[in-house]
Amino acid sequence: MVDAPIGIFDSGFGGLTVARAIVDVLPNEDVIYLGDTARAPYGPRPIHEVREYTLQCLDALTQRGVKAIVIACNTGSSAALRDARERYDVPIIDVIIPAAMRAAASSRNGLVGVACTQATATSRSYNDALAASEVSLTTSVCPRFVELVEQGVTTGPEVMELAEEYLANQKAAGVDTLILGCTHYPLLSGVIGHVMGERVSLVSSAAECARAAFATLVRAGLLREQPHRAELQFFTTGDPARFEGLGRRLMGGFVRGVCQLDVG
Ligand code: DGL
Repeated sequence: MVDAPIGIFDSGFGGLTVARAIVDVLPNEDVIYLGDTARAPYGPRPIHEVREYTLQCLDALTQRGVKAIVIACNTGSSAALRDARERYDVPIIDVIIPAAMRAAASSRNGLVGVACTQATATSRSYNDALAASEVSLTTSVCPRFVELVEQGVTTGPEVMELAEEYLANQKAAGVDTLILGCTHYPLLSGVIGHVMGERVSLVSSAAECARAAFATLVRAGLLREQPHRAELQFFTTGDPARFEGLGRRLMGGFVRGVCQLDVG
């Protein structure tokens, strides 16, 4: 089992930010990435539908013999984390708890914000994750961000204007820490960081999730310790050429050899 790959899932390209961070902290691990680009974005969908789609994708990953699953999608985690933990007998790593813990630990004034999709906000998963902490949470729903990233638009006047609009409540609340509560948003961190200003720390669920993945593999005795040239496989439910083209533009050369996969 130690030699089996890690499965990473997202609705589309956003989970590549997590995959990149995982490849950096776990260089010996083989990885299978699945992006459900044919059905993205998940954010505007009802939670029961996101749960169904997420479990279909996780079924496809477990059928490939993964030793652990990373739900690299806040929306998917919000809808299906508990079901996934019941359904599969491999460790499941999510993005929400690691990011919430980091934000609670690093906020100085106890005012934390989360920027996320509509479904993540509706599920109140970040409120639950932070319920035991002292922090007060402000939520911003950013409906058009995912759509723009999926089109390869990560900067420019439109993104800037939307960021000003979506994050106005965070500035008014005086948050000192903002969780990028969607794995697509690290690709917009230039714009988001500029709009929020230097005094606000951005917490990327991608980086925190990679650290959680490392810790989970160590605890489960599943860490591949011997040097190994890692094999990375990328699957999309959409058009593989488009996924590879945009994936490489957003994330560089580590996205290659993308194949199509039907999961529905
Ligand atoms: N990357 C997903 C997340 O972290 C994006 C959701 C979407 O497809 O709308 O929430």
